Amino acid sequence: MSPDIRQNPSPSLVRPPGIITGLSSGPKMTDAVYLEIRAFIYQLTGIYFQDSKKYLLEGRLGKRLQILGMKDFGEYLQMIRYGTGRQEEMHSFYDAITINETFFFRNEPQFEAFEKTLVPEIVAAKRPGGRSKLRVWSAASSSGEEGYTLSMIYLERLKPKFPLLDFEVVGTDISPSVVETARKGIYREYSVRNMPKLYLNKYFDCGEGRFEVHEDVRRLARFDHMNLFDQRAMRQMMGFDIIFCANVLIYFDNKSKIQVVSNLYDSLNKGGYLFIGYAESLHGISSAFKLLNFPKTVAYRKE
Ligand SMILES: C[S@@+](CC[C@H](N)C(=O)[O-])C[C@H]1O[C@@H](n2cnc3c(N)ncnc32)[C@H](O)[C@@H]1O
Repeated sequence: MSPDIRQNPSPSLVRPPGIITGLSSGPKMTDAVYLEIRAFIYQLTGIYFQDSKKYLLEGRLGKRLQILGMKDFGEYLQMIRYGTGRQEEMHSFYDAITINETFFFRNEPQFEAFEKTLVPEIVAAKRPGGRSKLRVWSAASSSGEEGYTLSMIYLERLKPKFPLLDFEVVGTDISPSVVETARKGIYREYSVRNMPKLYLNKYFDCGEGRFEVHEDVRRLARFDHMNLFDQRAMRQMMGFDIIFCANVLIYFDNKSKIQVVSNLYDSLNKGGYLFIGYAESLHGISSAFKLLNFPKTVAYRKE
């Protein structure tokens, strides 16, 4: 995105036919305010809303307007920029602007590569025969399914092979409500639909459409609120062996991708690995990693 997106709206925004509008029955957002709100979101989070996504913000933030009793989006923007209720509203704001789709065992080829190749290699390089710790980061973890998937794979497949290996997974997300869900570890049918039965039976308490992760799985994972676009917060995230940062780069433009991926690189130990989403690529974003092919997936190694 050009840095002056607010001043220089693309032609499709200036001419109404380019924008999908009027899909929600709530308050209407003018094009001018849309440009201001998306610039605000971009500066804060790296998320770039295309011209065609105005309807999404209109619908989602429109609900906030109704709850807060505000008459228009301009007033709302003023409040989240400078208002007294800013801090409280930011939580709902982050929830409203993010898409949190995820589920257990979402990208199986990555988990296969993790279990069968990456962890054995990293363990061998750390302290062969001695006690060591594997630190994994589920960056943009949403409601925690990826983090708990990794914990279960550790318990089921890795711990028996590497009894002297300690394991920790840290999950972070910008949306406070999904972090809260992750901490609770209670899910609905939708999240577990792709889960091998063995894991469901062994690591969950199931009942009436409610699936609760067992304590031994939860103990291995912790979840925190964190913005991947916040340079200062990113500098605290150091010493990871493997980072899963899947299905979030798609919401960024190239400039924010470059910043975030460069920070992820710094967060990895030498010889550590980065996984991104199936539909994502580091082509033109970073040449610092070595690309490695695995069955049906790729991983990026910090040399
Ligand atoms: C589609 S979900 C992906 C979840 C999981 N990684 C997966 O692949 O199943 C994208 C997540 O990225 C989070 N997100 C978006 N921008 C972010 C940012 N700047 N910092 C941290 N998380 C962000 C959203 O809140 C959302 O939960």
